[in-house]
Amino acid sequence: MTTSEKVHGQWSSRLAFIIAASGSAIGLGNIWKFPYLVGENGGGAFVLVYLACVAIIGLPLMMAETLLGRRGRQSPINTMAKLARAAGSHPAWRFVGWIGVLAGFLILSYYSVIAGWSMAYLFKVGGGFLEVGSAEATQRAFIDLKSAPDVQMVWHSLFMAATILIVSRGVSKGIEKVTRIMMPGLLLMLIILDVYAAGTSGFSEGMSFLFKPDFAKLSAESLLIAMGQAFFSLGLGMGSIMVYGSYLPDHVSIARSSLIVAGLDTAVALLAGIAIFPVVFSNNLQPGMGPGLIFETLPLAFMHMPGGALFGTIFFVLVFFAAITSAIALIEPAVAWLSENKGFDRVTASIYAGAGCWLLGVGTVLSFNVWAEKSFFGKTFFDAIDFLTADILLPVGGILVAIFAGWIMKRSESAEELELGGLYPYWLLLTRFVAPAAVAIILLHGLGLF
Ligand code: TRP
Repeated sequence: MTTSEKVHGQWSSRLAFIIAASGSAIGLGNIWKFPYLVGENGGGAFVLVYLACVAIIGLPLMMAETLLGRRGRQSPINTMAKLARAAGSHPAWRFVGWIGVLAGFLILSYYSVIAGWSMAYLFKVGGGFLEVGSAEATQRAFIDLKSAPDVQMVWHSLFMAATILIVSRGVSKGIEKVTRIMMPGLLLMLIILDVYAAGTSGFSEGMSFLFKPDFAKLSAESLLIAMGQAFFSLGLGMGSIMVYGSYLPDHVSIARSSLIVAGLDTAVALLAGIAIFPVVFSNNLQPGMGPGLIFETLPLAFMHMPGGALFGTIFFVLVFFAAITSAIALIEPAVAWLSENKGFDRVTASIYAGAGCWLLGVGTVLSFNVWAEKSFFGKTFFDAIDFLTADILLPVGGILVAIFAGWIMKRSESAEELELGGLYPYWLLLTRFVAPAAVAIILLHGLGLF
């Protein structure tokens, strides 16, 4: 093999991993969820805690999850069982894989509804709705969508059908190709929106909302939400990254790839925030308006931009692709389990898993209208599912992964996988002590348990 071939070969396999992993990481979590959570939780202090969680908890855990996947080279449930056996530990570690199947299934049920909203907006923006012209009009348009279960059901069904179609064919090369074009496209569109936002009257107010911390606004629950969002946005705690790690060639640096994926993911979230908050303040809107935030603000930005209808349409197409590459990662553990352990063929497994998500998603659709006043543990159906997954299941899954990689697995093995050299003790310190302790404290405190 010539040197250039070798270099190319290495580069392309690392790139393939980075594309797949960032396709899973970058999604509605960055563009839709991050801004609205920042808005609801008071701004800068929340952002700062979020960034700290990504650096101190997310990054070492992403490395841990990837290394478990590469070491086990099977689906998460079987990987955990195999690695536990190899370490002379209990096969109940498989449970980590189970949390993943459940969490992914639950998350996708509402993810699909929100992805449906962005599909609806694709046509709204493309169909001349921007000519209407005011903040009141965009707010009214969103309320119309929110209060129409039938319209949301149509889009939710279409999104889930598209997910089933792609997943049933096996996670194909096509996805990699689409992601390869879509990611840079999304980044470019966000930068265009940022440039627009920089010229609006609310720019400085938006920036200080986003980056000037006011810790008085931070409650125990918002701390937990910031941490949960770090798990959600990076796609950690449910074995997604473990699956991707299992395809990772031996020579690729786990540390460097994780750093790139986490960096890109964080950049996209911040760029989305920078695009949105100036528009919020320029139009005298409220940052804490909740899940509708991007749908009520971004159309205003597109409205005032030359070529806005075109840019807006492209933007929502890109959001759709970002969502579907994440949806695939979310449903894959359930599909893998149904086909490996229950003997379904891949198509049947995809249809069953997708149909289940679809049915549960009906609850989320209704939670914005018919069931708006119905309480599930003091929250709406959507909020309850979101809280259970992002703020409980993913952090619990994350703690277990950290404990396994840090304490159960032999040091010689993790050191060999990570090849961190002099940095290894720092990773070990974060994975053994800092990350599990921080997650446990934030989790129990946020739940009001101490
Ligand atoms: N990270 C994705 C987003 O931000 C969603 C996602 C994909 C996810 N895979 C995951 C969330 C695994 C939690 C766990 O939109």
